[in-house]
Amino acid sequence: MAVFHRMKSYSRVFAATLVTCTVLVIIYSTLTLEVAGTHRDLPDISVKPGIDHPTFRVRPATADVKPNQVQISHVRTLAIQVSPGFRSAIPQSSAFWNRKLHSGLKTLDKAGNLTQPDINGNSTPESTESLQTNIADFNAYPSLYQDFLRSMHFRSPDVLINQPNKCTSRGKPDQVTLLLGIKSVPGNFEERQAVRETWGQEGVYEDSLLVRTVFLLGRSGSDDPDLTHLLSFEAQQFEDLLVWDFKDSFYNLTLKEHVFIKWSLQHCPQASFIFKGDDDVFVNTKAILKYLKSLEPAKMSKLYVGQIISQASPHRDPKIKYYVPPTFYDGPYLPYAGGGGFVFSGALLESLFSISRYIPFYPIDDVYTGMCFHALGIPPEKHSGFQTFDIREQDRGNPCVHRDLLVVHRRSPQQAIRLWRSMKSPLLMC
Ligand SMILES: *[C@@H]1O[C@H](CO)[C@@H](O)[C@H](O)[C@H]1NC(C)=O
Ligand SMILES: *[C@@H]1O[C@H](CO)[C@@H](O)[C@H](O)[C@H]1NC(C)=O
Repeated sequence: MAVFHRMKSYSRVFAATLVTCTVLVIIYSTLTLEVAGTHRDLPDISVKPGIDHPTFRVRPATADVKPNQVQISHVRTLAIQVSPGFRSAIPQSSAFWNRKLHSGLKTLDKAGNLTQPDINGNSTPESTESLQTNIADFNAYPSLYQDFLRSMHFRSPDVLINQPNKCTSRGKPDQVTLLLGIKSVPGNFEERQAVRETWGQEGVYEDSLLVRTVFLLGRSGSDDPDLTHLLSFEAQQFEDLLVWDFKDSFYNLTLKEHVFIKWSLQHCPQASFIFKGDDDVFVNTKAILKYLKSLEPAKMSKLYVGQIISQASPHRDPKIKYYVPPTFYDGPYLPYAGGGGFVFSGALLESLFSISRYIPFYPIDDVYTGMCFHALGIPPEKHSGFQTFDIREQDRGNPCVHRDLLVVHRRSPQQAIRLWRSMKSPLLMC
């Protein structure tokens, strides 16, 4: 009994401490967000906005970058043309997605070049009745698929944790060469830390190339342990987490991509290039920068590069993660860069964001991205250094092999750290 009483009072003390700490964390994180611009100043950034760098076209920063601004209600969209190639590549069929796309395009054609679904990009939600009417076997869809369909109109979740000063110093936009957007999930603390300690290190590379890193997260599900406090601590400590108010799940990865593009437009539109990939890949950041530097000027503003998957079609076996019901999508996949890691030009952010309003969300994010680039008339570029399905087993621990690669899937946090160390070692002989 006494033990029980003491436990009760301990737990009261504990609860009180927890509440106090939470309040302090909130106050502190508000403060850090406000001063973040001043303590992330980096030495020796020789590239200044508005000045043309010999190897990178430096776009003048747009007026959208405002320090300390937590959320801008909407971003500008461009009048946009959907490529004829894309229109004809997606069959006009009775499958739900195909019908949704083509009826959207018809509306677009009738209304002229631009009328938006709505200011936030949300279209009208489909009721279950409407889904059952339009998809004969909707009730037989896996329940996660049904969830996806019910929420596929939803494009504007709130930002729960933001880094509005990620790409600015002293209130001015930094000339970011490469922005790394890394898909993670709330529980992957170790993966994120390994990335921070290795290929995701922020700073100036090769004397002038500035790299910035953000991790892209949704919320944990309602049955998962509550990681909110750990995440706000992590965000405050490292200033690299972006968390949005949607359930972090496989079928919501297209939504994650969409909000990342929107975030980049709002807070890092001056980035020359954007890498998007998983937290369990190994990236040779220096090799990527070297490759980007070697690009012809014409390519720099129109790049979409990675491991290209062409001639793929949807999986029709419900047991497979990438399953797509025939009554949902009909047709081949357009060539796309594997979502484990790919790179594109920052100059394309605005067009990508604009075009995506006319392309309904797809349950598989990299397939969706491929469609958007296709609709913009930008073909994917193949590069053999992107190995999103991994390399020969005997080469997987070999730092020499990794020196020539740009992206490899997948490496554990420990493998990433070992590889990074040996690749940096002056003793390494290849
Ligand atoms: C269509 O685009 C042209 C040029 O981009 C623009 O001048 C015109 O106002 C646009 N029309 C509509 C309806 O948005
Ligand atoms: C995606 O996120 C939304 C918002 O949290 C949620 O309602 C929906 O169920 C999620 N979709 C899936 C397939 O998890």
